[in-house]
Amino acid sequence: MFAVHLMAFYFAKLKEDQIKKVDRFLYHMRLSDEILLDIMARFQAEMQKGLDKDTNPTASVKMLPTFVRAIPDGSEHGEFLSLDLGGSKFRVLKVQVSEEGKRNVQMESQFYPTPNEIIRGNSSELFEYVADCLADFMKTKGLESKKLPLGLTFSFPCLQNKLEEGVLLSWTKKFKARGVQHTDVVNSLKKAIQKHKQDIDVDILALVNDTVGTMMTCAYDDPYCEVGVIIGTGTNACYMEDMSNIDLVEGDEGRMCINTEWGAFGDDGALEDIRTEFDRELDLGSLNPGKQLFEKMISGLYMGELVRLILLKMAKAGLLFGGKKSSALHTKGKIETRHVASMEKYKEGLANTREILTDLGLEPSEADCIAVQHVCTIVSFRSANLCAAALAAILTRLQENKKLERLRTTVGMDGTVYKIHPQYPKRLHKVVRRLVPNCDVRFLLSESGSTKGAAMVTAVACRLQAQRKQIDRVLALFQLTQEQLVGIQDKMRAEFEYGLKRDTHPLATVKMLPTYVYGMPDGTEKGKFLALDLGGTNFRVLLVKMRSGRRSVRMYNKIFAIPLEIMQGTGEELFDHIVQCIADFLDYMGLKGAQLPLGFTFSFPCRQKNIDKGILIEWTKGFKATDCEGEDVVDMLREAIKRRNEFDLDIVAVVNDTVGTMMTCGYENPNCEIGLIAGTGSNMCYMEDMKNIEMVDGDEGKMCINTEWGGFGDNSCIDDIRTQYDKEVDEGSLNAGKQRYEKMTSGMYLGEIVRQILIDLTKQGLLFRGQISERLRTRGIFETKFLSQIESDRLALLQVRSILQQLGLDSTCEDSIVVKEVCGAVSRRAAQLCGAGLAAIVEKRREDQGLEHLKITVGVDGTLYKLHPHFSRILKETVKELAPQCDVAFMLSEDGSGKGAALITAVAKRLQQAQEN
Ligand code: BG6
Ligand code: BG6
Ligand code: GLC
Ligand code: GLC
Repeated sequence: MFAVHLMAFYFAKLKEDQIKKVDRFLYHMRLSDEILLDIMARFQAEMQKGLDKDTNPTASVKMLPTFVRAIPDGSEHGEFLSLDLGGSKFRVLKVQVSEEGKRNVQMESQFYPTPNEIIRGNSSELFEYVADCLADFMKTKGLESKKLPLGLTFSFPCLQNKLEEGVLLSWTKKFKARGVQHTDVVNSLKKAIQKHKQDIDVDILALVNDTVGTMMTCAYDDPYCEVGVIIGTGTNACYMEDMSNIDLVEGDEGRMCINTEWGAFGDDGALEDIRTEFDRELDLGSLNPGKQLFEKMISGLYMGELVRLILLKMAKAGLLFGGKKSSALHTKGKIETRHVASMEKYKEGLANTREILTDLGLEPSEADCIAVQHVCTIVSFRSANLCAAALAAILTRLQENKKLERLRTTVGMDGTVYKIHPQYPKRLHKVVRRLVPNCDVRFLLSESGSTKGAAMVTAVACRLQAQRKQIDRVLALFQLTQEQLVGIQDKMRAEFEYGLKRDTHPLATVKMLPTYVYGMPDGTEKGKFLALDLGGTNFRVLLVKMRSGRRSVRMYNKIFAIPLEIMQGTGEELFDHIVQCIADFLDYMGLKGAQLPLGFTFSFPCRQKNIDKGILIEWTKGFKATDCEGEDVVDMLREAIKRRNEFDLDIVAVVNDTVGTMMTCGYENPNCEIGLIAGTGSNMCYMEDMKNIEMVDGDEGKMCINTEWGGFGDNSCIDDIRTQYDKEVDEGSLNAGKQRYEKMTSGMYLGEIVRQILIDLTKQGLLFRGQISERLRTRGIFETKFLSQIESDRLALLQVRSILQQLGLDSTCEDSIVVKEVCGAVSRRAAQLCGAGLAAIVEKRREDQGLEHLKITVGVDGTLYKLHPHFSRILKETVKELAPQCDVAFMLSEDGSGKGAALITAVAKRLQQAQEN
């Protein structure tokens, strides 16, 4: 009995002595809570540094955006392939995620070796090997005939701009293949797979880090999971960060998973005070000296080696094995992490230690075994402590982001160290809980590796890709081929001729209206004139003063509103309102009672027999006043003036806005023989040879023709390019079936087309979470100015979103991208169509004059042309392409059509006076 007690005493004493000895020797590796809290604070600062745009370039902890935005919601389903490369084992898998609700995942997998000559060879060898393994797997599983989406778990630091891309920043752990760093691994894999065209048909949709895969795997079972940690061959963590804190990715909405790459913590010297001589020695002998310094204190690839280096030093110092060393103890890599784990086993640990040391060619005493076991404990404990400190920093960040008193969260865990080391998980959990007492943390082991999660990410990507295809299908309807544009040009040209010929004119849709404007102002015009400008965005009254010979005018104008009820009331009300505005203007200018000649810009199709007669054929755009169509608008204006009985005006000319614009520009540039309006409406006028105008007698000289090309297509000749959206816009307009070309090209309708597309995409569940809001149902919300703003290149996505918000549309960032694309497609088509029309006229003019080359200037006006960031450019490009023999210059009319109308009035007045004399 006494002997037993004595033995126990002896053994306890022996153990205590050994532990003290080792503790003393490895004093520096034992980290107090105080130090851990300090490390935690340092890591918090590192995370911020990596997230900020300005400091990221020099940050050692890279905080890489992963483009994984949401954890699985259970709606994922389908069959996927998965590759898992970078951990201790390389696997190829098939993952079957079952239908909604059941949350059932089935996996079949196969491990493949990763020989050193492959992982340290060159890029093509590595990826061809991976592709070979994939091909082999598909063959064994009978998957050759299937086209499957593939997710790649690639456990190295990668820079991503999208989910299906990963530029390797640097190799870590055991890999060192040449020519891969700074290249996109997805692309390299794609290329390698190309060589297996016959047996593999896959679509690589996602690249994820193993931490991300782990988090997603665990989140599939526990929606609270928002952190993923790997303590395996390497170590790393990811977590869900608020988008508003991620400088490197546009958008502020929601969250995105950040791959911290915490293994590189300390690479800038931030951990020098806690690194030991063993850490330094280990680093020097590694594949990547100076890199991954935090990882090298923690992960499986290094833990055994650290123990070896310590044992060697202790032996050398005579503290172990009676000072003897074996050659195995001198050999790098002879002690592995699995040995450390086995030596630390609760019951068999000591016996395992003896066996392992003996295998290393050593002859350990009982005391040696106890000491070595304690060395292992210190090394693995330090590892768990360091991980805990960094993880505590992440948890604190989550808690702060959410502004919570207490955070309840789940951390998804994986990696061989965490899984096979007997004490590791318990120690880690305990320290984390001590460091962040305000967090209720659940640690969830990922049973099925990173791949299940990678499949979830792929499933989401797959769904998004399908949605993308649907969106593209809609946008494709608006993309016109060169051939289609030439077709439009030809048809427009034919319609011009139709409208000009006496026989066909009555039925022509492009009306080619004679304007009785015969020539350009010559600079001798002078006097004071009034002008009205009705039919565009604004109604104006103007006073224009011209001085002879100067080619310069002075203008005074006032904008007046025309309320909707007047635009669409009775003709009398409309003209009374106009006269009221004139009266106000005269009053305002102090011209009460002055009897001035007046030019009337009236931007609607009018049949003219004379310069001062214009019979409104029909209203277009937003006007619909009754009792005007078929009437002479000059008479209507005169009668309204009479009704008011306050002043008299001499109405000399009525002109279309295109004609006014051409004149305004022609005053400065006599080569301007075309007037174009791309505004609320769309129209063009040009100078035609009298001999070609069959409806007007005389063959000498030229006359301006108001084409009214807005009506192009009213005979269905362009129905092949009209979409369902164009038809919907037409049906909802004031003049259904009319002005079909105008409805595809002008400001008043482009926004409506956009709105119809958005409604349809929303119905298909592709936008606005499938919810059609009241606002979206409201006609006219997308005015030209909003379209122009949305499409501005200088605008960040966030601003697009805020414009949409102003419009009452509550959109996500993804929605905003789609809306911008829709606007782009619609306005681009408009500019191209308009360009095709213009090409038709310049080519006609060139051919009519029998010229090889035509040099001509187009006077342009209109809000679409002026405000839209791309319209004018695309218009010009199209004209250039379709009419290569014409040198077309564009001149923006700075002063509106009113000035031109006044000039025409001046000329007409001079002729009138000449006749009277
Ligand atoms: C696995 C993952 O479960 O964990 C791997 O599927 C990952 O991709 C690994 O790299 C980490 O552990 P280890 O110990 O294999 O590096
Ligand atoms: C203006 C003219 O400059 O341009 C108007 O003076 C014309 O009469 C207009 O209708 C066209 O642009 P919008 O975009 O106002 O219809
Ligand atoms: C290394 C890699 C990292 C990976 C980790 C765990 O640290 O750089 O990307 O997540 O190992 O495998
Ligand atoms: C409409 C009108 C036309 C006008 C154009 C531009 O198409 O019918 O006369 O020129 O809009 O304002």
